[in-house]
Amino acid sequence: MELFLDTADARAVAELSEVLTVAGVTTNPTIITKSGKTPEQVAAEMLAVLSPDQKFFMQVIAEDAEGMLADAHRICSLREKNMCVKIPVTPEGMKAIKAAKAEGMCVLATAIYTADQAFLAAMNGADHLAPYVNRMESLGDGVGQVLDLIQMLAGSGLPAGIIAASFKNVYQVHQLITAGIQAVTVAPDVVWSMIGHPSTQLAVDEFVDAWEASFGRRTFA
Ligand code: E4P
Repeated sequence: MELFLDTADARAVAELSEVLTVAGVTTNPTIITKSGKTPEQVAAEMLAVLSPDQKFFMQVIAEDAEGMLADAHRICSLREKNMCVKIPVTPEGMKAIKAAKAEGMCVLATAIYTADQAFLAAMNGADHLAPYVNRMESLGDGVGQVLDLIQMLAGSGLPAGIIAASFKNVYQVHQLITAGIQAVTVAPDVVWSMIGHPSTQLAVDEFVDAWEASFGRRTFA
């Protein structure tokens, strides 16, 4: 399983990359506009903290296939390798996904609300598929749609991988990891909630206090 961080906050990425194994970072236009920074600033800051092996995803803004492809060229030129372009699965986006793949770009099909949309994008060559789990949950059975997609891809021989996205809580992430999801992209605050448990720190405090009471120190030796 790969963990991606869904954020425009480079500091949060640097911090979590020290604590966990982070495969890369996804952004979207909303995340970038909310950061209060320009896309250029976000890209520069993110590329400064990512290792060359960590992937970085930015999304096209144009809505027609030709414009999307032009945006995709700009995005891919930001970095020599492991730069991926996110293209929404509108009809124009589907055209752009085919064209971008024909040029060998790394493509993530995004704004996916059904397993069928994702499957069709995989047939067009998308490398990654990002179903919007929480948003799909608001409309029906989001987790169930992703489980269907896992099965559909397994029987298809298509090489596309799922990076499940749009999580709002730890339980949604947990359900998909349990189902064998290949990758998730999760906001840093949700990731921290997955790590943190008050009882873990209490247990550590108890161990160290007992050690200090017996041996007069708070280190092993
Ligand atoms: C990730 O690639 C998606 O853009 C993102 O997870 C969407 O999440 P949201 O539903 O919080 O906007």
